[in-house]
Amino acid sequence: MQSDSLIHFQNERDLLEKFEKESRSKKIPVITKDTGYLLELAVLIINPSSILEIGCGNGFSTYFLIKNLGSGAKYTGIDMNRERLSSAREFIINRFPEADTEFICGNALKILPEIGRKYDFVFIDGAKFEYPLYVREIIKKIGNNAIIITDNILCGDRILSQKQEEHYKRTVRGLKEYLRIVSDKKYFNTTIIGAGDGIAVSIYKGGL
Ligand SMILES: C[S@@+](CC[C@H](N)C(=O)[O-])C[C@H]1O[C@@H](n2cnc3c(N)ncnc32)[C@H](O)[C@@H]1O
Repeated sequence: MQSDSLIHFQNERDLLEKFEKESRSKKIPVITKDTGYLLELAVLIINPSSILEIGCGNGFSTYFLIKNLGSGAKYTGIDMNRERLSSAREFIINRFPEADTEFICGNALKILPEIGRKYDFVFIDGAKFEYPLYVREIIKKIGNNAIIITDNILCGDRILSQKQEEHYKRTVRGLKEYLRIVSDKKYFNTTIIGAGDGIAVSIYKGGL
């Protein structure tokens, strides 16, 4: 006989595999599963009181962020794609009806200045060329020791190369500028992890 936790794990893995497969077949971008498991672990260990996600898409990454969200904690997801955002809302509310979540449709750069609350855990997965702009807004919404996790920081290793295809120039420039900002040891402790397409994990020291 299998334990309840193993049965739950197996059902969850099947659900996520199906969701990921369907998303990729519809060309909806989603994080890799190893990135998801990393987010899941980070939330379990850090136990944040409020999570902000920029670019929640159809909610695949949100699943991993919400799974271990403690009671009393809140999640805000932003995405400018209305269809994806409403899929995310439906997917997450069905799976975690008790979680305190809000899903906001629109451009994060316009929405962030209007948000009154503070966050202690941020996941960035919006437009790569905008990452430096997001972080400038995010630091107004976080306190000391908040964590910022950023996806696709390697951009298929293009960030490591000197020569860029025209199509990726703006993206790589944005990612490099983001890394320049979060590599300033006066304000951040940052490490790059080689999961998925590369993840930057930064702890904000405050002061910016
Ligand atoms: C890589 S996808 C997100 C995938 C999602 N995190 C997941 O793994 O399931 C990037 C998303 O960012 C959204 N996006 C891009 N620029 C944005 C902006 N300025 N404000 C809000 N959403 C944005 C896009 O609509 C898209 O759904």
